[in-house]
Amino acid sequence: MPPLAAAVGLLCGPAGAADEIHWTFTGPAAVTVDWRGTPEENALRYGTEPGNLAGLAVAAPPTPLPFSSAGPFWEARIGGLLEDTVYFYSIGNGPEHRFRTPPLRGGSGFVVFAEGDMGDAVTYPRMGLLQDLIGAEHPDFILAVGDLTYGNEHGQDAVDRHFNDVMAWSRDAAYMPAWGNHEWEDPEHDDPRNYKGRFDLPNPRTSPDAPAAGCCGEDWYWFDYGNVRFIAYPEPSSSGASWTEWATQARMLMTDAEADPDVDFIVTFGHRPAYSSGHHVGSSTLRDIMDDLGARYGKYVLNIAGHSHDYERTSPQNGIVHITVGTGGTGVGGDDAACRWTTCPPPSWSAWRAVRTGALRLAFSTAPDGKARIDGAFVCGPASLRDDVTCTAGQSLDTFSIEHGHTPQSAIGRIFRDLMFRIFGITANGRRAANRP
Ligand SMILES: [Fe+2]
Ligand SMILES: [Fe+2]
Repeated sequence: MPPLAAAVGLLCGPAGAADEIHWTFTGPAAVTVDWRGTPEENALRYGTEPGNLAGLAVAAPPTPLPFSSAGPFWEARIGGLLEDTVYFYSIGNGPEHRFRTPPLRGGSGFVVFAEGDMGDAVTYPRMGLLQDLIGAEHPDFILAVGDLTYGNEHGQDAVDRHFNDVMAWSRDAAYMPAWGNHEWEDPEHDDPRNYKGRFDLPNPRTSPDAPAAGCCGEDWYWFDYGNVRFIAYPEPSSSGASWTEWATQARMLMTDAEADPDVDFIVTFGHRPAYSSGHHVGSSTLRDIMDDLGARYGKYVLNIAGHSHDYERTSPQNGIVHITVGTGGTGVGGDDAACRWTTCPPPSWSAWRAVRTGALRLAFSTAPDGKARIDGAFVCGPASLRDDVTCTAGQSLDTFSIEHGHTPQSAIGRIFRDLMFRIFGITANGRRAANRP
């Protein structure tokens, strides 16, 4: 037994009592694991060979502290790892699972799933079935684009249930979240402490006017994974400052990525869609911001959102494919059986849409000639009476590819557009900005 193990009671707890286990990558050679466990389950062992877990990481209570249950909640930050390496780990006497540090810069060959608006499997049985489907695909990580638990509607038990339900994948694949309105807009019944406290995020950023509970920090974040720069975006604030500030920061991150030969693609993800014909339509403010970024940065090719409980992919808008995937388990579609959408037929920019529980699968690869690509599909989950497509669970619909970046507007074009924006508030698509900075 390692000397420290005795001090932290590492091997003394009941077998496998820890739950709500999930992890994030926090750098090229660092991950953080979060869980709920007994006072004795306050550390984990890890190593690169199964059954030989010589490393020891002692956990601490996270800040802010989640309040959905008594816990105790634990967070173990593990640095000094090897890059691009699979590790095996065990909490207490629990079973071995694995975490993996990100691929080397510029590397490819990984699979990501995205889903939003998930809830828990007691309230929404389809949520649990979908998480099982995702786990069976063994993705590298999951982008969870907000409205994670609906604890504000279904009670604090629903928060804990969600983090147990996602263990269908979250012990072996990283859980990378963005925040949705249900995480903060009803502070009498739930607030961001339950979420900011449960995750350690890479390159965390603070938004102006963020909700007081859980303040301050981890409102959004970014990370590089292989050949892709992923940038989360925050929830809007009443003053509009959170998105204006994000746009300024995103420009810097995208300028850096554009000049970096190891970055092939820029992907953003957050809760609210910029383009949506579902029951929550796209935000014109966000649309103007992203249209402008798309005109500037040729590597910016994909934005992923939730909020509207449906799946919808756009044709490229200023080079960006926008995908709404608010289909993680809660009820889907609008109430009108003749048209589950805000508009029927679809708007011209809507390339493919469906009312159906499911998730977005994204495979990132590089061909032998060095060309990077993204192959995506909507993976059907279990059926519901509201569906407007027919498929079997696990079947792929809407297969599509993004094979390269796009050509940004010329410098002269950008200067002209900047002038129009500063003087008249006219944006990249010729619209008047709804919320000028
Ligand atoms: Fe939602
Ligand atoms: Fe939402």
